[in-house]
Amino acid sequence: MWRISKKSFLFVIASFLFLALIGCASSEAQESEPLTTGLDANEWNNLAFKDKFPLHWESYLENMENQNEVLPKNDPSIEPYLPIVWNGFGFAVEYNLTRGHTYAFEDQMNVRRITQNPNAVSACMSCKTTLFPEMIEEFGAEEAYKLNYHEEALPWLEEKAGEDKGKVIDGKGHSAEWGHVSVGCSTCHDPETMELRITAPHLTDGLERLGFDIENATQHDMRSLVCAQCHVEYYFDPLNDLQTTLPWGDGLTFEEQWDYSEAQAERDGGFQGEFVSAISGGPILKAQHPEYELWSYGPHQTVSCADCHMPYQRVDGEKMSSHRWGSPMETLEESCRTCHGDKTPSYLENRVDDIQKRHKEQLLRAQDISASAHYYVNRMITSGVDEEKVKEAQALVREGQWFWDMPAAENSYGFHNPDGAMASFTRSIDKSQEAIILATRELMAVGEDIDELEEQIKLTKENVIDESVNHEKHLQAINEWFPDVRDN
Ligand code: HEC
Ligand code: HEC
Ligand code: HEC
Ligand code: HEC
Repeated sequence: MWRISKKSFLFVIASFLFLALIGCASSEAQESEPLTTGLDANEWNNLAFKDKFPLHWESYLENMENQNEVLPKNDPSIEPYLPIVWNGFGFAVEYNLTRGHTYAFEDQMNVRRITQNPNAVSACMSCKTTLFPEMIEEFGAEEAYKLNYHEEALPWLEEKAGEDKGKVIDGKGHSAEWGHVSVGCSTCHDPETMELRITAPHLTDGLERLGFDIENATQHDMRSLVCAQCHVEYYFDPLNDLQTTLPWGDGLTFEEQWDYSEAQAERDGGFQGEFVSAISGGPILKAQHPEYELWSYGPHQTVSCADCHMPYQRVDGEKMSSHRWGSPMETLEESCRTCHGDKTPSYLENRVDDIQKRHKEQLLRAQDISASAHYYVNRMITSGVDEEKVKEAQALVREGQWFWDMPAAENSYGFHNPDGAMASFTRSIDKSQEAIILATRELMAVGEDIDELEEQIKLTKENVIDESVNHEKHLQAINEWFPDVRDN
């Protein structure tokens, strides 16, 4: 059912009722589509839309020009302690800043977390390619998410989409090798009518759990929901064929998603987390990109994602929505001053800078303390502290990590909801501190020297920062003081 757009679905229902009412069962009911593109209902190739919508295509190609340098996120200038807090997981090896939608698929294909992981699964593709709905169709929802990424999913996709590989190019020398199947037209539009639609079953499912039926979404809702197909927190549910699943059930705040995730972890065979920390030994939840959720309880919750990120532009005298998804600060007049016309551009820029600067300070502080907490628990394990106490400390580390990771993985640096992000950092710092206090008490009881431990943590952090090869930094986080404790 999710292939049918909301409106055409309603149209089908309405015409059916109408026909039933007038007692006419004729199969020649006339379709009065608002727009007919002539494209196939299942069209997944972005290139197919090029000639039909030349202005939108031009706008789409602008995603190929990077707005920022695509740095590794563990660079000392960004988040230096990631190789520690994610140790034991691919994200500790390579994780980069974002770039445009046209590159989404190839960036995933080429990142070391995928290339160096022979067990990667096709669920990873569910937010990167217009071919994913086709994959579900072909393999069924029970199989489509757990195909082996390298052995099964990629060969299928290369076979299916190979022909137009490398054909998405702009006039400035940029090309997106897999641009024709990367996040694109059919992700958000019904190819036949261009109405907005949801193609991701996990979103429809997540909303349902919150008691919201997608059929009741207004056009204004849809201008954010199309983004919520991907810009959300998710996990691959082991109790449901590894299908992409949103931890929505209690609500959308970070606190409510935490409660929901913890309830899942308590279920028999339920999702515990994406990895086990090599340093503190407990299962850890890795946050993804919860832009939709953080926005949903922030000051701009009545303003849609598209209002700011796809502002109306006038091109060749025609009014259209920008399809360059990037920083709204580059389009401040159209994105912000339509509402904040009483404020100068520099006032708005300074307000955003202030919010983001404060956010980053707390983020770094929370990550620093979280990294220390991991090492304190490592020492508890290697010095033989009672297992129950270790478990208690691991639970605090896990909670401390979730509450910095959610606002850190959220890409607006707090702008979408400054207070919501701050509340999260505060809880993170509290929980990591509690872990450290608990550990300190236990370590002192077994005669450990806390000053020495602190010195070792400090030196280890410095070694991680000083390692110049980004994807080898994680190797510095483990050493003779702090061994890998998994399976201990
Ligand atoms: C099918 C999944 C998907 C959908 C739907 C989607 N995005 Fe994205 N978006 C991504 C991925 C993946 C990236 C990162 C791509 C990369 O770095 O290669 C991204 C990146 C971005 C970026 C950063 C671009 C840059 O240049 O750094 C913005 C802004 C963005 N998306 C906004 C939106 C908005 C607004 C919507 C809804 C109108 C939306 N996205 C819908 C998957 C999606
Ligand atoms: C991430 C979601 C997303 C993707 C991908 C996307 N669009 Fe859109 N598109 C939108 C939204 C949101 C609107 C505004 C719809 C509204 O409010 O009526 C829109 C509007 C449009 C419109 C209506 C006119 C306008 O500008 O408002 C056309 C035509 C269109 N898009 C074409 C395309 C084409 C062609 C592609 C692929 C190259 C594409 N879109 C990719 C989200 C998307
Ligand atoms: C009131 C305007 C506004 C609304 C509404 C809004 N955003 Fe943003 N968004 C921003 C600003 C401002 C930034 C920060 C840009 C910067 O740092 O240059 C941002 C940043 C982002 C980024 C990171 C961009 C990058 O370059 O990496 C993504 C992704 C994003 N928003 C997605 C969304 C999604 C999805 C929604 C809806 C759920 C949304 N935004 C709603 C204004 C908005
Ligand atoms: C559709 C209208 C609309 C658009 C577009 C819009 N805003 Fe807002 N903005 C609001 C509303 C409504 C509020 C909340 C006012 C309140 O709470 O009193 C707000 C509040 C703010 C605040 C104060 C937030 C806080 O933390 O209290 C800032 C700063 C801001 N907007 C900046 C921006 C920027 C920058 C953009 C463009 C990227 C933007 N706005 C786009 C309507 C809008």
